[in-house]
Amino acid sequence: MSVVSIIGHKGGVGKTTLSINIAAAITKAIHSSNIDEPVCLLDLDLRLPTITEILNSHPQKTFFNLFELLANSTYQLDFLQNLYQILIPFKEYKTGAIAKENPRLLKSIAKYKNLNEELFNNAEFEFGDQIHELFLMRGEIERPSDLKRRNVTQLFNRIDINKFKNTLRECEGSARADINDYISYIEEYGFSILGGEVPILGKKKHRQRINEPEFLVLFIEFIQEVCEKFKHVILDTPAGGVNHLSSIMNSIDQILFVFDVSNTVAVKGSIDSIHTFMDYYEDFYENYKNGLLTGMDKTYVDRLIVSRGGKAVEQALETKKMCIVFNRSQKINEVTQSLDQLREYLDTLGKYEKYRDRIYLVGLIPNNKVINITNNRGSLFYGKDKKLTYRIDSIAKNIIDPNINSPTLANSNKEIISFLEKKSTLGFRKTYSRIASSLS
Ligand SMILES: Nc1ncnc2c1ncn2[C@@H]1O[C@H](COP(=O)(O)OP(=O)(O)OP(=O)(O)O)[C@@H](O)[C@H]1O
Ligand SMILES: [Mg+2]
Repeated sequence: MSVVSIIGHKGGVGKTTLSINIAAAITKAIHSSNIDEPVCLLDLDLRLPTITEILNSHPQKTFFNLFELLANSTYQLDFLQNLYQILIPFKEYKTGAIAKENPRLLKSIAKYKNLNEELFNNAEFEFGDQIHELFLMRGEIERPSDLKRRNVTQLFNRIDINKFKNTLRECEGSARADINDYISYIEEYGFSILGGEVPILGKKKHRQRINEPEFLVLFIEFIQEVCEKFKHVILDTPAGGVNHLSSIMNSIDQILFVFDVSNTVAVKGSIDSIHTFMDYYEDFYENYKNGLLTGMDKTYVDRLIVSRGGKAVEQALETKKMCIVFNRSQKINEVTQSLDQLREYLDTLGKYEKYRDRIYLVGLIPNNKVINITNNRGSLFYGKDKKLTYRIDSIAKNIIDPNINSPTLANSNKEIISFLEKKSTLGFRKTYSRIASSLS
């Protein structure tokens, strides 16, 4: 399995264009060797998803629906959990297990008085008449002694806390989305896509929700399930990375940085995005090794370990592959200059020695009008132009073949350029067939 994130520091460097074409190239390579290994192209750009639009595909359910579902589930769950946290101290007080000054009890009374009526009325589950009655009694209960009143006691005798607990557990279990509802297979291209047509994070409530841990856990679990289902997943990752999804970024196999070499400002930005990524990654890996991961990161890695095994996760983290694709190149010296600039920058940071063998140079895509047909309609250029197709094939080969020898920053500029400019990818097909036969 490979999960690849296509990253670029700013808008318009070609992330989406490359993601789509790489997905097409991998699909073609797989089909040509008759292996049924599905490819999924995932639009992680939650602010401005474009893939479905570019590919003219209209999935029934998009990330927008997913967010609505997850948001709803987490709200409902929050509410149910709140109720549970109210009922328990009430009950304990009534049985004499805690005193009237108990802070937990006082807190639960305050919580009870503030229960959100709208959420209660719109809840999807049956609370039962008793809980409803309790809810309606909010005006009568001000202090612990009010709980000892006869009508309240009678009501409490009828409330089955265990039953309530079971409802809560059930709800926790059903907050998950069925990933099959969200994946659309596009016959024409032979791969699946996933993502929204509607900008999800344009909505204020979605922007808020994605930073809430319960919500994020559900969303990340969803993404991880997708990654497990497919052989190759290409993530079109928004400009600047996805901070709230750093667990995903840190745990996936390969990162592919897109360098727009058509102007120097863009190159500087791309270099900076590698730096930002390294900082994230180093912190994450250090914390992982020292058992210091917390919160989301820990939850996510623990899940990965369960599904892939500790060794595989450790190895994926240790050998995480960072690749660079140069896009929009017109003159070769733009590429050599970018390479020198990157080496110098890493050297200044004291990171060159550490990373020079781990940063692979895997692709060079010229600035080409076949790609830049207005309104993105030219974005799927794979298969339409021989030279471009070769270039994309060699990027795809780098992704799916772990044994491929792409040059790294440690190679000379001359070696790098001659690799990136090579005309044919015949070796690719051969290598792939070899892997294919070893797998079958
Ligand atoms: N090599 C290229 N040659 C010519 N045009 C290109 C090339 N790569 C990308 N483009 C064009 O540049 C524009 C932006 O590309 P794209 O949408 O892929 O960028 P992006 O990084 O995904 O942007 P965003 O951050 O907005 O999502 C598109 O119109 C695309 O056709
Ligand atoms: Mg894009």
